[in-house]
Amino acid sequence: MKEKNVIVAGMQWGDEGKGKIVDYIASKFDAVIRFQGGNNAGHTVYKNDKCYKLSIIPSGVLTTNTINVIGAGCVLDIVHLNNEIEELTKNGAVISPDNLLISSKCNIILSIHKNLDCIHEELRGIDDKIGTTCKGIGPCYEDKVARRGLKLYDLYGETASLKKKIDILLMHHNIIMKGLEKPLYKVEDIISELSIISSLLPYIKDNDKIAEILSNRSMIFEGSQGVMLDNDHGTYPFVTSSNTLPNGIFTNIPDLLSSDDIKNDYMKLGVIKAYTTRVGSGLLPTEETGILGNYLQKQGNEFGTVSGRKRRCGWFDAVSAQYAIKIGKFSHIALTKMDILDGLDKVKICIGYKDKCDDITINDASETIPIYEELDGWGATHHAKSLDQLDNNAKNYIKRIEVLLGIPVVLISTGQENNDIIDLI
Ligand code: IMP
Ligand code: MG
Repeated sequence: MKEKNVIVAGMQWGDEGKGKIVDYIASKFDAVIRFQGGNNAGHTVYKNDKCYKLSIIPSGVLTTNTINVIGAGCVLDIVHLNNEIEELTKNGAVISPDNLLISSKCNIILSIHKNLDCIHEELRGIDDKIGTTCKGIGPCYEDKVARRGLKLYDLYGETASLKKKIDILLMHHNIIMKGLEKPLYKVEDIISELSIISSLLPYIKDNDKIAEILSNRSMIFEGSQGVMLDNDHGTYPFVTSSNTLPNGIFTNIPDLLSSDDIKNDYMKLGVIKAYTTRVGSGLLPTEETGILGNYLQKQGNEFGTVSGRKRRCGWFDAVSAQYAIKIGKFSHIALTKMDILDGLDKVKICIGYKDKCDDITINDASETIPIYEELDGWGATHHAKSLDQLDNNAKNYIKRIEVLLGIPVVLISTGQENNDIIDLI
């Protein structure tokens, strides 16, 4: 790879396989940096016959000598992070303040956020719920924007000033608790919940220290979720609460980028599955609820890593992918889970919707009835490591995607193991 830095981000509704792609390229870079989201993200990485589950920890953590940063713009559940470090360590990963740095500017997810996330979902009712991961992501970002959230650096200072900040936070949350006729939160409870921070303190660094450690290093910026879940440009309101687009690095972690970095052209690697999935409610134009949907769900093991929910499945949607490229400015594609479509007689690609509209995210299901193109299926791509191992129909499918999207496919994932990949970079 000739680029110094690369951004890896999802082009669909999350779960595109970004974790595997980041893990695959991580050894070619010095650092992997997360810049948005929290432990709503879920990456499953298969490496050396082991299965690792990553949520908030960047996917470079399984690579020796790679620095991993949970950057500003992320929201951090410190209780969860402790557990994630413990689980990964049990599984053989090596995690220490040498290879995991956390920005002191991250906002903290508290149990009050997780409770509120569940309460909101319950009150919306079965037909209108967002289908969040209930990890407190939305309420934490709400408090951040409303300027009453707690940041990690708030935990360093005087207890009196922390208490005052918690008072301000609870002023808001207790109005809600009162309205719901539920017990009110107490400052002491929040302080005791935060006491777990002591084991994480060695990981937390101010941004100028992180910038110093990262200076002149090559970096992967690891996005979570995907374009269609972006708070401004996704299928609102069925979206997450952060901006998931690659350009988020310029607002969230500008201090980690040198002026040279900003001038240079990055590789903006969009990760996209060879079909489509979504977990949670909202528009999914190519969704198949019958035999094919079930087949993809089973074959692709399409269960949410975080919530265990079944993912909704359907054919590849070139229209939403074209939109993702327009909004996300992707330059290259990593096509994942190609092998899940192996052995099908025919495969379909959505090349248009019956009601044409440039911004598909403001449409509803009745306006996005897919127009399909049918292609012949292929034999086996499973475990393929080079294009020569694919038959012509498999190659045609990839070519057709490249033509429809107008940017090159440079990585093709053909199985769950780290080396099940065709690398054309
Ligand atoms: P939240 O991010 O937990 O608030 O959930 C909002 C929506 O985004 C729900 O539909 C979730 O299922 C979805 N979502 C959040 N994170 C991910 C992810 O990492 N992969 C897939 N879907 C996600
Ligand atoms: Mg996931």
